Amino acid sequence: MKAIVVGSGGREHALAWKLLRSPKVTEVVCIPGNGGTALLPNCRNVAMAETDAEGIARCALVNNISFVLVGPEQPLAQGLADALRSEEIRVFGPGKKGAQIEASKAWAKDLMAEANVPTAAAAVFTDAESALLYVQQQGAPIVVKADGLAAGKGVTVAMTLDEAISAIKAAFSGQFGAAGDRVVIEEFLTGQEVSVLAVTDSQTIRPLLPAQDHKQIGEGDTGPNTGGMGAYAPTPVMPPALLERVQKEVLEPTLKGLQDRGIDYRGVLYAGLIVTPAGDPKVIEFNCRFGDPETQAVLPLLETPLEDIVMACCEQRLASMPPFVWKNAAAACVVMAAEGYPGDYKKGLAIDGIATAEDAETVVFHAGTRLSEGELTSTGGRVLGVSAVAPDFSSALAKAYSAIDKIQFPGSYYRRDIGHRIKRHESAPDG
Ligand code: AMP
Ligand code: GLY
Repeated sequence: MKAIVVGSGGREHALAWKLLRSPKVTEVVCIPGNGGTALLPNCRNVAMAETDAEGIARCALVNNISFVLVGPEQPLAQGLADALRSEEIRVFGPGKKGAQIEASKAWAKDLMAEANVPTAAAAVFTDAESALLYVQQQGAPIVVKADGLAAGKGVTVAMTLDEAISAIKAAFSGQFGAAGDRVVIEEFLTGQEVSVLAVTDSQTIRPLLPAQDHKQIGEGDTGPNTGGMGAYAPTPVMPPALLERVQKEVLEPTLKGLQDRGIDYRGVLYAGLIVTPAGDPKVIEFNCRFGDPETQAVLPLLETPLEDIVMACCEQRLASMPPFVWKNAAAACVVMAAEGYPGDYKKGLAIDGIATAEDAETVVFHAGTRLSEGELTSTGGRVLGVSAVAPDFSSALAKAYSAIDKIQFPGSYYRRDIGHRIKRHESAPDG
């Protein structure tokens, strides 16, 4: 069986890696892939834009591909899956309508209200004056979100009224382009954030292991938000009983809401949740794809072949699939970034030491790298994701950090406190 993975980040490297662990998968084509996928045996990069529906369809047909797995949200939001399905190609990822769940926060809020999914109270605005009036009535802290896709930069958690006011002005002055034409203003929630990535064939939905990300660049969760600086799975913050509540209160009603809108959603529904101090899960966002770096922590624990899950979703057979099998272990992924990220950073940095860092339980996923004439260099802000599996969290973290010690590139930066919330949780399970 051959597959196409669309995208070029650590998530896509992990997806291709996991597919190729199965003897049934003979080749993965990454469009466009990165230095890590270029080095993966039986994996081939094809230089083509992730949104080039015609090119991807041609590549799938010429190579007799069993399915296309789409990593990032942008091509899904632009209708890549619809275009491929119209050529009878199996696709793991929702069409343009379903992708609105991530591409429009106002649309997602409407769906959640209709489907009675627990989420932060919110109001939607199309002009600055009414938005400003609203935040003045509500007061801070409050959360201001550009409606559309803004590459992870559209959300401001405003601790003061002044911050909320500048965020509203920025969005309506066109800082995020059309993504900021509408603004969602949301109640500020406190509690631990958990990412539940679920797979669905549009009829049945099943969660993968819950994970936790680290959004902020600085240790102790300080500084600006990033794409994610590290993750681990599973998390004790979401024990099985709570995950069962997420299934019943969030995933199933959301799928029903999609069905009620006539949407055939096949792929990942990623619920970004906050577990409130009262212990209740509330949705703060939905994504229409695998999380990055959560995927780099979740997939190394998955024993069930990924292609079986993907094919079952594409062919609407998820209900008859046996329960997914997981390693009885923990995984941690620590992201190594270029100095300056998420602001300006250098590219083209030479990377060394990956081969010595890897072993049977440690894998280095490439996020922003390229391989050219045998030289591995950086191309992005997040450069590598170092993932390790071990019987427990502290050993998995220790393994990931000792692998990091063997990898060098100039000015590399990583957070040394990945997993700090679990440590806190272990010492104060109710907090
Ligand atoms: P998003 O891009 O929607 O994931 O939001 C980015 C980050 O903002 C989230 O990971 C949270 O840390 C934070 N955030 C979003 N919505 C809320 C909320 N209602 N209350 C508190 N924090 C939030
Ligand atoms: N790790 C956050 C995301 O994938 O959106």
